[in-house]
Amino acid sequence: MKEMVLVSGGAGYIGSHTAVELINAGYDVVVADNLSNADMSGVEGVRKITGVDVPFVEVDCCDKEAFRKVFKQYNFNSVIHFAAYKAVGESVSDPMKYYRNNLTSFLNVLELMREEGRENVVFSSSATVYGEADELPVTELTPRKPATSSYGNTKQICEDILRDVATAYGDLKGISLRYFNPIGAHPSALIGELPRGVPQNLVPFVTQTAAGIRECLSVFGDDYPTPDGSCLRDYIDVVDLAKAHVVAITRMVEGKNKQPYEVFNVGTGNGVSVKELLSSFERVNGVKVNHKIAPRRPGDVVAIWADTTLANEELGWRAERTLDETLKSAWEWEKNVRGIK
Ligand code: UD1
Repeated sequence: MKEMVLVSGGAGYIGSHTAVELINAGYDVVVADNLSNADMSGVEGVRKITGVDVPFVEVDCCDKEAFRKVFKQYNFNSVIHFAAYKAVGESVSDPMKYYRNNLTSFLNVLELMREEGRENVVFSSSATVYGEADELPVTELTPRKPATSSYGNTKQICEDILRDVATAYGDLKGISLRYFNPIGAHPSALIGELPRGVPQNLVPFVTQTAAGIRECLSVFGDDYPTPDGSCLRDYIDVVDLAKAHVVAITRMVEGKNKQPYEVFNVGTGNGVSVKELLSSFERVNGVKVNHKIAPRRPGDVVAIWADTTLANEELGWRAERTLDETLKSAWEWEKNVRGIK
């Protein structure tokens, strides 16, 4: 019998790509999502790409008794928990919304897993836990810095909850994956990132500007102490990131984890500047992106990129798609969504 994985938040950007890769790797998948920040197009895209009629349950993970029904109905032994709010700025202006949602849903996941006897969980963490790191690249042992947003704080708190729960009870194993900057889309252009309203992240803003939906991209700061003055980030292809979830689940399913709780960076290991990303996007896609230099954005770190040695060695995982391929896929997706030829 195939192993089944519950993907919470599986209608969203990273969740939908992960559902595809799980199915490609031979897992059965059930998607749970409250559709608060996604619609059914992600699930339909997964079904089209895989040819599998992936089961979908509309449920809020914060509603424990409704969520329990999913555990009763489906016999998954593993959960990948994506369902969370993720807008950094909004988390600063409305922290209660973030603490209530992101902590309650994860506590429910863990409690229900233990009550219903399920074993393996992957938590979506973020490079944001490192803040402005003292040394680059960051390893998993680089000390975390106090969070500068409630969003970032929920990531740190959930990591700690998972560490303590997995360590204390012995009935549950967990892995936190610290994502760097996920970008790009599936090569089919059937799933991708579709932010509601004005995009807050760089690549969706770039693709929407190229598509003529936004007038002008602001490059936030060109006077940072970096080679070209703009910030450095580690942009990880979303399909590569999705595959990291598959190997993390497989590691636990096969009992290969070395500790009940483990943490892995998921990045490429390369720092890329905003200006470099922009010019690569223009070059590989043959389009111009109207842009201007704007003041620094409050809260941005100057530079961060990953040391991925641990994931390379322990998970046998490494990023495969090049930045050019990824930026091409981001544009193909945007064109597909907007009906641009
Ligand atoms: C943020 C979050 C991170 C989260 C990620 C994806 C923090 C500090 N960061 O990362 O946890 O995983 O979003 O949701 O919590 N930029 C521009 N113009 C724009 C938009 C961005 O120049 O219009 C620049 C930014 O200054 C930054 C880079 O592009 O240097 C990347 O920004 P963004 O895509 O927003 O991601 P992060 O802030 O790195």
